Amino acid sequence: MHAMVYRGPYRIRVEEKDVPPIEHPNDAIVRVTKAAICGSDLHLYHGMVPDTRVGMTFGHEFIGVVEQVGSSVQGLQRGDRVMVPFNVFCGSCFFCARKLYGNCHNVNPNATAAGGIYGYSHTSGGYDGGQAEFVRVPFADVGPTKIPEWMDEEDALMLTDACPTGYFGAELGDIKEGDVVVVFGAGPVGLFAAKSAWLMGAGRVIVVDHLEYRLEKARIFAHAETINFAEVDDIVVHLKKLTDHLGADVAIDAVGAEADGAFFQHVTAAKMKLQGGSPVALNWAIDSVRKAGVVSVVGVYGPLFSAVKFGDVLNKGLTIRANQCPVKRHWPRLFEHVKNGVLKPSDIITHRIPLEHIAEGYHIFSAKLDNCIKPIIVPGSN
Ligand SMILES: NC(=O)c1ccc[n+]([C@@H]2O[C@H](COP(=O)([O-])OP(=O)(O)OC[C@H]3O[C@@H](n4cnc5c(N)ncnc54)[C@H](O)[C@@H]3O)[C@@H](O)[C@H]2O)c1
Ligand SMILES: [Zn+2]
Ligand SMILES: [Zn+2]
Repeated sequence: MHAMVYRGPYRIRVEEKDVPPIEHPNDAIVRVTKAAICGSDLHLYHGMVPDTRVGMTFGHEFIGVVEQVGSSVQGLQRGDRVMVPFNVFCGSCFFCARKLYGNCHNVNPNATAAGGIYGYSHTSGGYDGGQAEFVRVPFADVGPTKIPEWMDEEDALMLTDACPTGYFGAELGDIKEGDVVVVFGAGPVGLFAAKSAWLMGAGRVIVVDHLEYRLEKARIFAHAETINFAEVDDIVVHLKKLTDHLGADVAIDAVGAEADGAFFQHVTAAKMKLQGGSPVALNWAIDSVRKAGVVSVVGVYGPLFSAVKFGDVLNKGLTIRANQCPVKRHWPRLFEHVKNGVLKPSDIITHRIPLEHIAEGYHIFSAKLDNCIKPIIVPGSN
């Protein structure tokens, strides 16, 4: 089969690989019909994630058709169209019992913190991902769901990560009726967080980024006010002025460890490797939220950080909530929203790229070229 393969930072290509075999009776092999590239894949692509092994296939957002099932699989059969959440999870451990699917204790022998994620380095379990013609799906009776007849396939694809993660970001913010919510990052996750904030009762939603074309999308897609942080002297002071000098009630970090906007952080992180990235968006969130406010973090961070303003978290009495999104927990509610037309997740897709050209897809998305917001990969389409 053809699969995307990692060869080192900024170097990926399509290679011939063996179709993955069934390794466990509850595995399924899925023929991928659509996959997506996530902002999280960019951290891998940029060489930011430890133990990203040469030869790995990325891709944790994918849908497809069941090709083969192991002997114990009961809920799926060959030919079923399935959507697969990005988390690999067992469904029965302490954490899965609490619907914390991103924290499953049985799927990642390499760590006790991170759970399992398809195509996300050996720090997330070492599972090959879905940017390929075929992918092995463990716990086939637990993770995947048959795509409802009425659901558009591109909507289903966006429901495997970006949409639920944005929704989860808003949920972690514990938004109260009328709250002022500021979202850092107007990528796919930030856009869905902003849109979801309204669903949870926000009275005002402000999105911050420095890419004008994405801010335009935030205005149209999420009906948000927007601020280009590169066009104001000090984004925190600016936000304070907009919020009666108290600050926002809730701040959502949908940027993560590769934030732009602070030279010192960039030097200590990317150049000197003194910390695992730049926490500038997180610090802006901490600074711009009001005392006793909530900071929700869905942007991805590695373990090592030194320049987070923790003293301010303490002295302001902030609540910080963060996690990998437990995708499947949100499906029942999000399916309703999609069915009723409240959400149209595929609206954010800007590029549809054949698997053979995936290297170009990564380059366009990484360099934010051609007004790219969300590229999807279609195997066998050229
Ligand atoms: N927690 C989870 O389960 C989960 C799931 C998916 C993605 N993520 C993470 O969410 C983050 C966003 O993902 P995405 O797909 O939207 O990525 P993306 O790269 O498309 O978007 C990030 C956006 O942040 C903007 N940005 C950079 N620095 C900023 C700053 N200082 N302030 C405000 N905006 C800034 C960028 O211009 C870009 O538009 C990534 O870190 C990704 O790894 C987390
Ligand atoms: Zn993702
Ligand atoms: Zn589990």
